[in-house]
Parts: sequence; C-alpha cells; structure tokens
Amino acid sequence: RVEPVVASAHTLDGLRQEIHTCRACPLWQPATQAVPGEGSAAARLMLVGEQPGDQEDLTGRPFVGPAGQALDAALAAAGLDRELLYITSAVKHFKFEPRGKRRVHQRASSREAAVCGGWLEREVELVKPDLIVAMGATAARALLGRDVAVMQERRRVIEHGWRRVLVTVHPAAALRQQDADAAQRYAEALAADLALAARLL
Ligand code: URA
Repeated sequence: RVEPVVASAHTLDGLRQEIHTCRACPLWQPATQAVPGEGSAAARLMLVGEQPGDQEDLTGRPFVGPAGQALDAALAAAGLDRELLYITSAVKHFKFEPRGKRRVHQRASSREAAVCGGWLEREVELVKPDLIVAMGATAARALLGRDVAVMQERRRVIEHGWRRVLVTVHPAAALRQQDADAAQRYAEALAADLALAARLL
C-alpha cells in the first residue's frame, strides 16, 4: 500500500509552495521544477491531465507544450475560457529519459502517481469544483481510485463522494496517432466532451 503525500497548505498559493519542495518520490531530482495546477480557486470546472512534459517542466506551467496547444484548440472549440478554469495534472513532475539532446517522456509509475495523488486531492478540496474533467486514464484513476476504460466511460458524470467527474481523452492522444483521421477523431472527442462539461455546469 502506498501512502499519498498529505498536504498541509490551506490556500492554493501555500499549496504551490509545498508542491515545489516535494521530495516524496525520486522524480523531483532530474526535473527542473514541479508544475502545480494553475487557475482560480473560484473555478467551477477543473481539468486534470497526466503529468507535465518538457515545456511544462521548463516553464513551471501546466499544458503549455504541444498537449497544451491541443487542449487550447479543444477549449476554443468548446467555447470555454481557459482563464476561468483550474488546470492541473495528476503527477507534478516531468518524468523523462535523456536521449541525446532530447528528453523523452516516460509514464510515471503507479506508485509515483499514488504518492503524488495527495497534491491533487488538496487541489480538489481547495477549488471545490462543480465538475472535474479527467483527461485520460491516469487522471481518471487518480480521481476515482480505480482503473477506468476511458472510451467506455467517457461522457457520463461519475459521482465520487461529493465530486462529479467526467472522463475524456487526454489532449496528447490525438498527437500520438499516426493516422490523420484517428487524430482528428480524438481531437473532436476532446472538444465535444469539453463542450458537454460546459453544459453540465
Ligand atoms: N500533459 C499533462 O497531462 N499535463 C501537462 O501539463 C502537459 C501535458
């Protein structure tokens, strides 16, 4: 059994500071910095991704790299203003393998994700969103505490305690497709699910 970190901060600013000093798993060491969530404590809608990538690690901000561009396009299509949301990732440090000059994304282990889940938990408690969109299986698992088949469970509100969670695909899923039609289907699925989230608020 893995014990998640227990946050002590009771404000988002305090939580950011705390996340920046996290040493609860080895991922902090090669990373540039932690990437806490971003947005208003008053946000009604919270979006949760998987983990920061290269650009997020360098800037300290979530969803600013290629996945962030895909997300921004889907948000625009759904008529959602990023400024009004709280956006975070299930895991707060970039995990990578150096390959020459590149840093290649590595998926966080289930143990790393479970430990890091305590930060997400406190973000949810502090923002108290009306609806949480879990983008991808890692976010869904972190929020619901079980394995989730994204394609089967997307587009329905899953009640979890006081929380309402809507599962959708991760923005990077479209970027990973070799086939242009498949890529477009993923991009459209994300935009449609975000539009549904907007209607559910
Ligand atoms: N993917 C995520 O899940 N989060 C980010 O911040 C960037 C890419």
